[in-house]
Amino acid sequence: MNKHQNIDNLGRLHTSTAHDSAAKQVAGRADYIDDLPEPEGLLHAYLGLSTRAHGEIVSIDLEPVRNAPGVVGILTAADIPGEADISSVHKHDEPMFATTHVQYHGQPIFAVLGVTREAARRAARLAKIEYRDLPHLTDVDAALAAGGKLVTEPLKLERGDVAAGFAKSKHRLKGRTVIGGQEHFYLESQIALAIPGEDDEMLIHCSTQHPTEIQVMVAQVLGIPHAAVTVNMRRMGGGFGGKETQGNLFAAVAALAARRTGKAVKIRPDRDDDFMITGKRHDFVVEYEVGYDDNGKIEAVEATFAARAGYSADLSGPVTDRALFHADNAYWYPAARFVSKPLYTNTVSNTAFRGFGGPQGIIAAERWIEEIAYALGKDSLEIRKANFYGTDTDNVTPYHQTVEDNVVHRVVAELEETSDYKARRAAVLAFNAKNTVLKKGIALAPVKFGISFTATWHNQAGALVHVYRDGSIHLSHGGTEMGQGLHTKVAQVLADAFGVSLSTVQITASNTGKVPNTSATAASSGTDLNAAAAWDAARQIKERMAAHAAALYEVGPEDIAWEFGGIRAGQQFVSFGELATSCWMNRVQLSAAGFYKTPKIHWDRSKGTGRPFYYFAYGASCAEVTIDTLTGEYVIDRADVLEDVGRSLNPAIDIGQVEGGFIQGVGWLTTEELVWDAKGVLRTHAPSTYKIPLASDVPPVFNVRLAEWSVNKEPAIGRSKAVGEPPLVLGYAVVEALSMAVAAVAEYKHPPRLDMPVTPERVLMGVERLRKASR
Ligand code: MTE
Ligand code: HPA
Ligand code: MOS
Repeated sequence: MNKHQNIDNLGRLHTSTAHDSAAKQVAGRADYIDDLPEPEGLLHAYLGLSTRAHGEIVSIDLEPVRNAPGVVGILTAADIPGEADISSVHKHDEPMFATTHVQYHGQPIFAVLGVTREAARRAARLAKIEYRDLPHLTDVDAALAAGGKLVTEPLKLERGDVAAGFAKSKHRLKGRTVIGGQEHFYLESQIALAIPGEDDEMLIHCSTQHPTEIQVMVAQVLGIPHAAVTVNMRRMGGGFGGKETQGNLFAAVAALAARRTGKAVKIRPDRDDDFMITGKRHDFVVEYEVGYDDNGKIEAVEATFAARAGYSADLSGPVTDRALFHADNAYWYPAARFVSKPLYTNTVSNTAFRGFGGPQGIIAAERWIEEIAYALGKDSLEIRKANFYGTDTDNVTPYHQTVEDNVVHRVVAELEETSDYKARRAAVLAFNAKNTVLKKGIALAPVKFGISFTATWHNQAGALVHVYRDGSIHLSHGGTEMGQGLHTKVAQVLADAFGVSLSTVQITASNTGKVPNTSATAASSGTDLNAAAAWDAARQIKERMAAHAAALYEVGPEDIAWEFGGIRAGQQFVSFGELATSCWMNRVQLSAAGFYKTPKIHWDRSKGTGRPFYYFAYGASCAEVTIDTLTGEYVIDRADVLEDVGRSLNPAIDIGQVEGGFIQGVGWLTTEELVWDAKGVLRTHAPSTYKIPLASDVPPVFNVRLAEWSVNKEPAIGRSKAVGEPPLVLGYAVVEALSMAVAAVAEYKHPPRLDMPVTPERVLMGVERLRKASR
């Protein structure tokens, strides 16, 4: 496909190396939790769910469940020896099982244990539960109308004199944009396998981005110390944020059942149940007002970001915070004021999803830029350029962090050139002037994305590295593999540090017994944090090995040089394996725990000031679409993407992340629609009703490139930049291109204001609305 597909087997840093699981995954030989050999006497758990969105539980009759064939037991809140709470931010607002009342349709009330999964699954449906219905709030508008109860304190960001900014603005506009939610649709559903050990010990295999959180939750629910619980995680079949906190319930149920029965217990929900009982991306309603001048330069902006949080806080606070942190995208606002509203609703508790609220913030910014463009009758790219952050001035964000590494001008200029944007836009306009049924649209938009967990304490990582006496290397670190290639990159860093080939490094499962107190693998920081920790471990071992070599060959430290395959000590060369053996014989420690914490960052949420991000990753995309104005159907004709990943550690993996992120973003914003009915029941809970992109939905022309000139200004590992989340937002260019095609039916005089996802129905309704407006 491109030159990065030449795979380098040595796995040198900054070269394309195959993902360590790639061959196993395509051959079906990569182990997921459901593939592990099952322990003797394994029991299977299944969940009994609420069938009401909000209500009091009047009575529960579980006898039919208990008497069903193959059932060996039932668990309710009464069986929990420790705390009955699994809330990720320890707000005690997320009961493991509902007891007196239910807060959403699908909330777990009990678990049933069966000798087979099928027995448990069938029995779970036989419960007789009576409810007294209470009024329920399903969406943002209903929650706002009912007074807007928040699940957690809002964030306020303010910089500059907003009132003065509006006062001097020649133009003002107000708008509202609706951005839909998204189901993670990881291919491997949530799953946990608990194996009880001696005394309090509990071993958990769980598909999770956050083994430490699983450990903490299991310990909390069983009322035992963290040290008694070990969580093991080799790889996930996708996480996308949906396994940052959402595995808690499943691990807790499996562990509780294992403790109660003394047997190993596995739990794996059906796709439909996983869909209904796990949180999704937050949908947002953003209301905004912007003041700007004749050139479209923004003077002041004010916006409220209301989001459907669901029935509990989960990560809704930090998610809506990150939306605010990204409401500037790449633009300088002389004055800005933003407020978050994580709203309580009677729906599943929404959670992390690739971008973690950031995409919703960026899309709001792009939306007001687009509105200004329509109001002034200009190309939106012109408005974008007029508002870009400066490099030395006009570079302070609404959260008072100075943007020190701005490359948006270069990224956008380069993509504008390579995508031939100007000529193609002219061609699109000419096409639209001639055609009445088909209309085309094109858009080019940038992304700037802040890298670091906004909660500063999460920005730490550990690693445990052993060099064995044959010279092979055992790697374990605090991050988890979900397909993003983290293990491959960390192994590359380690191989590079020791000067050995990649095959020398044994990648192992993430395990809380080896690396403790880990952060979630999230915020795109997996490599930045864990590779740096592994590098630190390697540094310690190398120092000891080098000192040993110097003593052995009687040379000074300055005569020691690490080369590929071993060490040069003066005139002597000793291979890495030989040196390892010699170190062991001479009682030199060949194991080390590494640690890393991100420097420079700090954040005061109550004041809304600080430096939450270590650096920014940039990107831009250009999309061209054609719509059918009679049916609303559309195709993406072409997409061009340029992504800044600093000095890429592995271009093949990074390109894969950019391609996948872009397509996942397009799916979110165009075809993936979550629909709750009047009773608060999610009606889209399977691929039959919820449309994710297929391989055939990839644009026929899809040019994805990395900004090869880019080097991280900060000394992040190898001067690379994070890549996991930012490219998802690039899918937005498709929305704006669709909007332009719709606007074409009314000579671009009216802003199309399409809510997202921009499904074919919305395109068609947009066309009709604009035709009416222009009559
Ligand atoms: N890529 C794949 N294939 N599968 C995933 O689940 N998750 C995304 C991104 N890319 C994901 C993925 C999300 S939400 C994040 S935060 C990052 O990967 C996490 O990994 P990293 O920090 O190692 O980039
Ligand atoms: N990003 C992603 N996941 C997180 C964050 C964040 O900023 N904070 C807590 N979990
Ligand atoms: Mo990613 S949403 O930070 O797991």
